[in-house]
Amino acid sequence: MTITFVGPRVLSDPSEDIFGLASSVYHKSTLLPVTTLSGWYRRNPEIFWLVRDKERLIAYLSMLPISEDAFRFTLEPSFDEHLLTADTIEPYTAEGNYRGFISSIVVHPDYRGGRVSRPLRTFFLNTLINWWANRRRIIGLSAEALNDHGAAMMSSLGLHVNLRSEHGSLLMVNNCSESSLTQCRDGLLGRMHSV
Ligand SMILES: CC(C)(COP(=O)(O)OP(=O)(O)OC[C@H]1O[C@@H](n2cnc3c(N)ncnc32)[C@H](O)[C@@H]1OP(=O)(O)O)[C@@H](O)C(=O)NCCC(=O)NCCS
Repeated sequence: MTITFVGPRVLSDPSEDIFGLASSVYHKSTLLPVTTLSGWYRRNPEIFWLVRDKERLIAYLSMLPISEDAFRFTLEPSFDEHLLTADTIEPYTAEGNYRGFISSIVVHPDYRGGRVSRPLRTFFLNTLINWWANRRRIIGLSAEALNDHGAAMMSSLGLHVNLRSEHGSLLMVNNCSESSLTQCRDGLLGRMHSV
């Protein structure tokens, strides 16, 4: 098994691969069309953290830097991710404050149980910590957890439940700082030995 972690500066659009993996785990009603993923990627190509076993995509995490209005929408009971159009995504400039929406985290069923998801989450947090050092600051994160397992994933990234949406999902949020991100990263590293 040759596992590599890629991103978020991926060299070509991975939307087809992401759609393929997402289709195997998500219910049709929550699945985002490949055209949506591709539109997001064209707007800002630094939104995907990928894990490949050789060439095959086995896991990914996606995080969209979005406008303040869109961020507020992600925390409203009527939130529907399908309405996050590409123009709600902020392109990154060299420096600035951003609010991010964690759109999805998926690990292929053959690779579950921490050996991929913990390193992937650690990889993601390390990127955000490095960005802070380079003045690209993610000052808030939100996410929609569709189940308890998803909520556990988001908790490990420092998010807590804000409210339950009209569709029954949990809308989660946190305010980030370099030190809170580092604390979460170190928490995951501390649990890595038990994988
Ligand atoms: C969610 C998903 C990415 C987790 O990957 P995984 O390899 O199964 O994750 P792990 O076994 O490492 O479990 C992650 C954490 O959840 C906890 N957990 C495991 N099973 C759980 C369950 N049934 N309920 C709640 N928490 C659970 C673990 O204790 C672990 O904690 P950690 O932070 O110490 O690592 C994977 O199951 C998946 O792709 N599911 C389908 C897509 C999905 O629902 N994504 C989440 C959308 S919000």
